[in-house]
Amino acid sequence: MSVLGIDEITFGAQDIARCRQFFLDWGLNLVEETPWRLVYESLNGCRVIVAHSDTPGLPAGIEPDPTLREVVWGVANAEDMAQYGTAMQQWPGFVQESDRVGCTDPSGLAIRIQISRKKDIALDCAQVNTWSERSRVDQASPAYERAQPIEVGHVVLFVKSLDAVTQFYQDVFGFVISDRYPGRGHFLRCAPRGGHHDLFLLQLPEARNGLNHVAFTVRDHHEVFGGGLHMSRCGWDTELGPGRHPISSAIFWYFISPAGALVEYYADEDELTEVWQPREFTPGPTVFAEWAIKGGVDGETRRQKNADAPSGRFMTDKPKA
Ligand SMILES: [Fe+2]
Repeated sequence: MSVLGIDEITFGAQDIARCRQFFLDWGLNLVEETPWRLVYESLNGCRVIVAHSDTPGLPAGIEPDPTLREVVWGVANAEDMAQYGTAMQQWPGFVQESDRVGCTDPSGLAIRIQISRKKDIALDCAQVNTWSERSRVDQASPAYERAQPIEVGHVVLFVKSLDAVTQFYQDVFGFVISDRYPGRGHFLRCAPRGGHHDLFLLQLPEARNGLNHVAFTVRDHHEVFGGGLHMSRCGWDTELGPGRHPISSAIFWYFISPAGALVEYYADEDELTEVWQPREFTPGPTVFAEWAIKGGVDGETRRQKNADAPSGRFMTDKPKA
């Protein structure tokens, strides 16, 4: 028995119109809409909800809106849901509904468990050729006009008490530590076998609870670039990216979200098993990014923002002095 991953997230926000356009540009499908509530789905049916801050019954935020109000984790069946329900009973905010059970984690975030509504989907993804392995033969790499996120892959939270929140997810849900910044951050995955992290907890020196980012899985690194370039053309601001994380190996691109904090496109994260031994790192720029572009890439010129666009057809076509 294990938690399978993130099934649904809910943001609380005031500017619904701006959030509406942002997540449409991000590549999610808008499946329900009222002036107070937007419901989007990713390719595999993972849901992203933006609810107006004043929505009755919306769980309290871990910080002032806009931010994350709720995370729903998926499990395989009713028996698993009942077992996690029993484990959650002793925690504050315990709720038992017909199709969900939940509580509040020690950072104050509302957590729910439901039988997963995500679909198994098969997608064509880019093959990569290396010196020793030629996976892509008689075939060009894809290029994407924009992204279509597959699912919400992970959430990153600032927490006041790293150890208490980590212990909660280990004890109640069986999460496993993948890697650590000792005393500063823990990468957690739902089960011994799976992607590098489903949850990353970060304790700042000025300890506070809050959202750092929500990450959306896309097919391959080309879709990270295609999605980011589209967001750039739509006028949304990059925080950092594209770039690559040495921890998790993922290619990333972070945008500033009107629904709170940042959202990330990512692809090509490490896949781990019970054999993996957690590593320890000291925070620093070279540990965070193997490489990264600050401020993003312009979707039209295909060059880093604030740099001159190329003036000719080839890089060697320099303007005459
Ligand atoms: Fe991330």
